Amino acid sequence: MNQITDEVINDTYYKELIIDIDQKLNIRDESILKNLFANFPEDEFTCDISEDSLTVFLNSVDLEFLKNTISVIKSDHSANGMSNILDSIVTNIESIKSYGLKGSKRIYIGYNKERKVKNRKVKEINRNKYYYATDHNFSTVNNNIPIDFENKIICGDSLDVLKKLPDNCIDLVFTSPPYNFGLEYESNEDAHHWEKYFDQLFRIFDECIRVLKFGGRIIVNTQPLFSDYIPSHHMISNYFMSKKLIWKGEILWEKNNYNCKYTAWGSWKSPSNPYLKYTWEFIEIFAKGTLKKEGDRHNADISADEFKKWVVSKWSIAPERNMKDYKHPSMFPEELATRVLKLFSFQNDVILDPFNGVGTTTFVAKITGRKYVGIDISKEYCKKAEIRLSSTLF
Ligand SMILES: C[S@@+](CC[C@H](N)C(=O)[O-])C[C@H]1O[C@@H](n2cnc3c(N)ncnc32)[C@H](O)[C@@H]1O
Repeated sequence: MNQITDEVINDTYYKELIIDIDQKLNIRDESILKNLFANFPEDEFTCDISEDSLTVFLNSVDLEFLKNTISVIKSDHSANGMSNILDSIVTNIESIKSYGLKGSKRIYIGYNKERKVKNRKVKEINRNKYYYATDHNFSTVNNNIPIDFENKIICGDSLDVLKKLPDNCIDLVFTSPPYNFGLEYESNEDAHHWEKYFDQLFRIFDECIRVLKFGGRIIVNTQPLFSDYIPSHHMISNYFMSKKLIWKGEILWEKNNYNCKYTAWGSWKSPSNPYLKYTWEFIEIFAKGTLKKEGDRHNADISADEFKKWVVSKWSIAPERNMKDYKHPSMFPEELATRVLKLFSFQNDVILDPFNGVGTTTFVAKITGRKYVGIDISKEYCKKAEIRLSSTLF
């Protein structure tokens, strides 16, 4: 069975079926396929053909009509050698077991929703999705990262360093800012007045937004300081939304970390002020200008199993175990960075971490075939990030 996912093109929803083909398609093969699909309305059943791949976009189809059309095509000797591909289109569609029926057509999209919400499409338009981000004025012109920054660890304050980068040159920012918990970092304080903390953080985020490509993503791992009643994950999300980024979603990183103080109950056995406990952190995901990221399909390195597992947005991943060895108090684990990078970026994309610490993001970017820029204010952490990179076999 080939990979089947959901896709939206020009506001039409499709099942996307990537058909395995074991031959190069020549001009004659392509025209046979184009003739086949010309029998169907484009917003119901269409395809994308390249020399070595065939992707079918399926919203609804009359399967019997498709089978008959294919057998007519196959009966013509000019279609010799195409039988496997043509049959494979039908086999793939038949492997999708859930669909609705409308007359002679099988309906693959929205057949189970329409009943619950009438006029769903119209209502969706009236609601005006991500209305807060639609009147942005981001440039759609993307730039290359200057060579002096490509695959570099840079020691400095991100606010200063990022100013040297051109607009729209980064595909994905993945970062975990200092949490302001009072942790012992090597060369900066981690316990500011919250207003000053957010002011400094947001000035760096402004630069991140500027250097992000149109269609790029900013993904922030954050942990609110619950005991200060500061919902930093909401404050960061509100900030990005106020800057016209689209909130793409949120992942709960379940750390199964039951070390969190079980003695701190607040008001024990009384509703007067119970203290809530959390074993997870948040990953907030934002997109600049559009939800769809441009990229070559061949540079997607996520497997079907990984994709199915990771789009369920609660990830159970143990915290980093080697923080003592790295002498860094708040690293995230490589597994977290691997999932984020593979789910939200393509190979060869440029990944930025403006709070790179000992380089988890940049290390994972390198071993998964991406370009990187890592910035940290601490010389010590930057040195460790470099050592980590040099340990890879590239
Ligand atoms: C939560 S840690 C990131 C750890 C990283 N994710 C890792 O796995 O190693 C935050 C980092 O931000 C750095 N930092 C704090 N303020 C900074 C600034 N203005 N510019 C650059 N780095 C800064 C700290 O030195 C610290 O290493």
